[in-house]
Amino acid sequence: MNFSQQLIDWYIVNKRSLPWRDTKNPYYIWLSEVILQQTRVNQGLPYYKSFVKKYPTVEDLAHAPQDQVLKLWQGLGYYSRARNLQTAAVQIIDNNSKFPDNYKDLLRLKGVGEYTAAAIASFAYGEAVAVVDGNVYRVLSRIYGVATPINIPAGVKEFKSLAGKLLDKNDPATYNQAIMEFGALQCVPKNPNCNICPFINNCVAYQENRITELPVKIKKTKVKNLFHHYLVIQTPSGKTVLSQRDTSSIWAGLFEFPYIESSGALLPQEITTNKLFRELVGGSRFRESVYNQQPIVHKLSHRKVHAYFWIIEVDEELSHSIDIIEVKTKPVHVLMERFIKEFWQKK
Ligand code: ADE
Repeated sequence: MNFSQQLIDWYIVNKRSLPWRDTKNPYYIWLSEVILQQTRVNQGLPYYKSFVKKYPTVEDLAHAPQDQVLKLWQGLGYYSRARNLQTAAVQIIDNNSKFPDNYKDLLRLKGVGEYTAAAIASFAYGEAVAVVDGNVYRVLSRIYGVATPINIPAGVKEFKSLAGKLLDKNDPATYNQAIMEFGALQCVPKNPNCNICPFINNCVAYQENRITELPVKIKKTKVKNLFHHYLVIQTPSGKTVLSQRDTSSIWAGLFEFPYIESSGALLPQEITTNKLFRELVGGSRFRESVYNQQPIVHKLSHRKVHAYFWIIEVDEELSHSIDIIEVKTKPVHVLMERFIKEFWQKK
């Protein structure tokens, strides 16, 4: 299969007519690409038209008041892109108004990354550099059955290399437009209509029924911060209260002091007015102080637990209490273990 020729054939028949495709003006192409990084073609089109109309040349953009540029950008979001556009326009003016005419020099412009530089270099100057954007990842991962995650360095490298090999060196501009258009119109993220796809017989993902699996993106789980405030109750006769974790958690079955969970540090009065605290202490008089001003921190795969231990001295005996000495005999999790070790060593 000559992938690039087939792709270009598809493009010639199916392409949308878009104003930035009818120009070789690098400034207009740049504008369109920066706008299209923010939004889809339909929403981006009016922005493109108003930028071109208001600032027909890179000099016009460079000399425009920043507020005016930001106003024109309004609605696209991510305003640093608009500020970068203008900063780069000034860079160009400062360089004798010479628009960079190759991939390497384009990369020097503020806000211009590999994708934008490849797009401008190929569309405006016919330089043989492949664009790699979300569309390209999707099309290549499916047709070639590449399951390397697209958001890890090894994946970025692999797709860049594959894209470079497939690029039509004689007509990189058309090829790059074609692969992006193919991703935007045919090889769409959800429910692509593979029955009308020219690659139906060659597409690994289609043949192996893996369309929904590709491209692979690793979910980068955000670590959640949790704050546990353990209540270390002490009665006059040296008893305390322990509870056992239920079966559903990672620390299932282990013992611990009852705790209040929060999304941050708590003040003493937030502890002593808490429902759990009131239930445990009841009508007894108490003295409370936090044992560790700095929390004991324990990292889990998705969570980071910050543990504070509050010493609560009550002046009455409580039901469900056990001898403090017994705590040492119970199976406990790592936070408890660290606390117990330190606390009882000092005693
Ligand atoms: N998305 C990003 N660049 C594009 C282009 N040149 N044409 C259509 N969609 C695009």
